[in-house]
Amino acid sequence: MAAPKIFITRPIPETVLIQIQAECDVDMWHTSAILPPIAEKIPPLDGLMTYGHEPVTAEMFDTSPNLKVVSVVGVGYDHVDEDAARERGITLGHTPGVLSDTTADMTWALLLAAARNVVPAYNHVQVEKQWHYYDPNILWGYDVHHSTIGIVGMGRIGYAVAKRALAFDMKVLYYKRNRRQDWEEELGIEYTDLDHLLKVSDFVTLHVPLTEETTHMIGKVEFELMKPTAILVNIARGPVVDHGALYDALRDGQIAGAALDVTEPEPINTDHPLLDLNNLIIAPHLGSATIQTRMKMATMAMENLFAGLKDERLPYGVVQPPEL
Ligand code: DGY
Repeated sequence: MAAPKIFITRPIPETVLIQIQAECDVDMWHTSAILPPIAEKIPPLDGLMTYGHEPVTAEMFDTSPNLKVVSVVGVGYDHVDEDAARERGITLGHTPGVLSDTTADMTWALLLAAARNVVPAYNHVQVEKQWHYYDPNILWGYDVHHSTIGIVGMGRIGYAVAKRALAFDMKVLYYKRNRRQDWEEELGIEYTDLDHLLKVSDFVTLHVPLTEETTHMIGKVEFELMKPTAILVNIARGPVVDHGALYDALRDGQIAGAALDVTEPEPINTDHPLLDLNNLIIAPHLGSATIQTRMKMATMAMENLFAGLKDERLPYGVVQPPEL
């Protein structure tokens, strides 16, 4: 029997690639600089592994009668038309859990960097070479310890962010569609509605999946509720925040600062006005980008891929084979 045909949309760690190549006929897109031509590649495929967020659509599925499985290297699968996959009996897998602590760490890296002016400090000393004497009156930031953090979206990543906040003696508020009383008891965190969370939090961090409901969930009205000293961290998906409203809020001092790991569009255009603000940090979607975690994600995605090709239940499945 011919080996199943697979397309991998960006380079994955070699040790995992070798294991896939041992069982499949693999075509891997060898660069991240040029977008992978998924639509072109998909027609003869049995399996697709996406490592990135380009749309995988119903139209693409319709050109590919053999496609059995879409394996996402990542927890978020908003770029894949889940309903269309389900309707066509195509399985869909992702990599939940393994990246929660890593993404929570990055949330904290961004939060601390924004609160304590790490990027302006780096620019001052190393880029502008302006550190000529000790100046006690520059780059004052905001205390993180004993402040209030508002976590929007209390899933696995939100939970990991909350645990870290307790080490900073912070008051932790959260907002989520379905309340987690077990976590409230375990961590001593408080559930609140979104408006109240925005009004009282010193730091607001976003961890919701991208859906119709969460698109532009944070916009003009929400920024108006926030404190002028508040800092927003978005590590969820770019479109959760209305970037026009964010620009106005940062420019007008409606909030003190923001740090984004995700943008709309992604990558953000190099002439986007947000890039000119000095109270904003943007990272290029690094939430789960550590050596250890990316290895584990690729391994889980491989396990999903192999299971899907054999019509077996995916170990980390979103859409399972129809009869299982
Ligand atoms: C995820 O896991 O969803 C990250 O955004 C990387 O794709």
